[in-house]
Amino acid sequence: MPISPYTLLTGVPSVPGASVPAGESPLGEAGLLAVPFSADHAPDVELPLPAEALLAHYEAKGEAGEVVEVPVADGDGVGRVLLYGVGDGSAGALRKAGAAAVRRGRGRSSVRVVLPEGPVAAFVEGALLATYTFRIGEPKSTPAALVEFVGAGEGVEAEVTRGAVVAEAVSFARDLANTPSSIKTPQWLAERAAERAEAAGGAVGVRVWDEHALREEGFGGILAVGQGSVSPPRLVQLSYAPEGATRHVVLVGKGITFDTGGLSLKPTDNMKFMKTDMAGAATVIAAVGALATLGAQVRVTALVAAAENAFSGTAQRPSDVITQYGGRTVEVLNTDAEGRLVMADALAYADAELDPDAMVDVATLTGAISVALGKDVGAVFASDDALAAELTEAGTQTGERLWRMPLIEDYLPALDSDVADLANIEAGSTYGAGSITAALFLREFTGGRPWAHLDIAGVGRSTADEGHLSKGATGYGVRLLLDWLTRA
Ligand code: BES
Ligand code: MN
Ligand code: ZN
Repeated sequence: MPISPYTLLTGVPSVPGASVPAGESPLGEAGLLAVPFSADHAPDVELPLPAEALLAHYEAKGEAGEVVEVPVADGDGVGRVLLYGVGDGSAGALRKAGAAAVRRGRGRSSVRVVLPEGPVAAFVEGALLATYTFRIGEPKSTPAALVEFVGAGEGVEAEVTRGAVVAEAVSFARDLANTPSSIKTPQWLAERAAERAEAAGGAVGVRVWDEHALREEGFGGILAVGQGSVSPPRLVQLSYAPEGATRHVVLVGKGITFDTGGLSLKPTDNMKFMKTDMAGAATVIAAVGALATLGAQVRVTALVAAAENAFSGTAQRPSDVITQYGGRTVEVLNTDAEGRLVMADALAYADAELDPDAMVDVATLTGAISVALGKDVGAVFASDDALAAELTEAGTQTGERLWRMPLIEDYLPALDSDVADLANIEAGSTYGAGSITAALFLREFTGGRPWAHLDIAGVGRSTADEGHLSKGATGYGVRLLLDWLTRA
């Protein structure tokens, strides 16, 4: 199950004891009502003890993420009020507050949540994403089956809708990345992308290249990575072109449906996480699917380079030389550096055929990036300062932090090959800096256009159910891209 459904109740009193529709408890059907408070704003709810005394007793300061549970009378029985702190009321604080409040509703049929003041869309995002679960078969810990937001006032409905649309897109991306690779072939991923486009009601066009079309048009990187798998590779293009758009952005997602490393085989411990090696693809598919609903004004083309990096007798060999889209040759010194090979084809195609004003790629590209930045901060490499700044700012707004990494020119010789135009990794160990040299490799295929590369290998999965994240795929980047692409 992805996220729980929600309703927006307007004009329903949040205060127990006040008049409510006949027969209905103000606490909601499950007797669970969440109400905001902060250091200087007491909760607006009738409680068995003075709110100040209760909060002092629990040493609650009103920080975002704090939740104090108070049993209250609910008809003839007992219900519960959840007092949730809103911190400084910023988008980041409210996202955290929404997630914390709704997490307390796990196992209930519903939770009723009085909306806070301020950036309500962020609160709704956090609240709904906190209900996300992914289990094959029966859910182990069911989230509140329904979230009822209570709010009124100008713009609240639009804010709630925006938050819900964004949360749904993130949960869609998580579902794709959490799906086992036994199901998730490149063709399966292409079908999900096409379905997503169709769900956007004609606003998003689809084109899929199968292995024959890829061969005909010279996508040698995608083909080489996919050649070891019984499930052939695909390239998917999703096109959103609103009338009057003046800017064209191309998004490219890494869609490795499973990364064994190929003949440069991964160790067992590292391999089990590799079903999420298409998280970048999931992010761009989900983002494009939501653009129409959110009324984005920019033209966006998403490319998903999908292949399974399998270990087999037909797999490419370390030392093979491949020809990327556009004709450049690459010596494949390590078949586990496969992401850059499929991405290079898509970037080169975008540069040659789509005339974009900016290209942004999203990829679980290097393990080294989580050594540098850990699990909470994504990396942005960019050939364009303004683009880097815009994306970083979007990430600040959405709480998907990005840190700009350098493209160090001195390391470019790491990509020299004795036999081809480029090598896919450094032959020796003079330069190191695996994430930087990977980014430098991608830059070779961008034709000098404004380009940014998000390495999400560290942030693509979460190890715990915490806040708006659930264990497994995070859907990182969906919110950031939507924020960026829907700015005026
Ligand atoms: N998909 C991996 C990167 C990755 C690692 C993503 C850990 C998520 C978690 C990528 O294809 C890869 O294998 N990269 C290699 C590059 C190396 C061979 C130069 C790596 O990071 O070890
Ligand atoms: Mn790999
Ligand atoms: Zn990979």
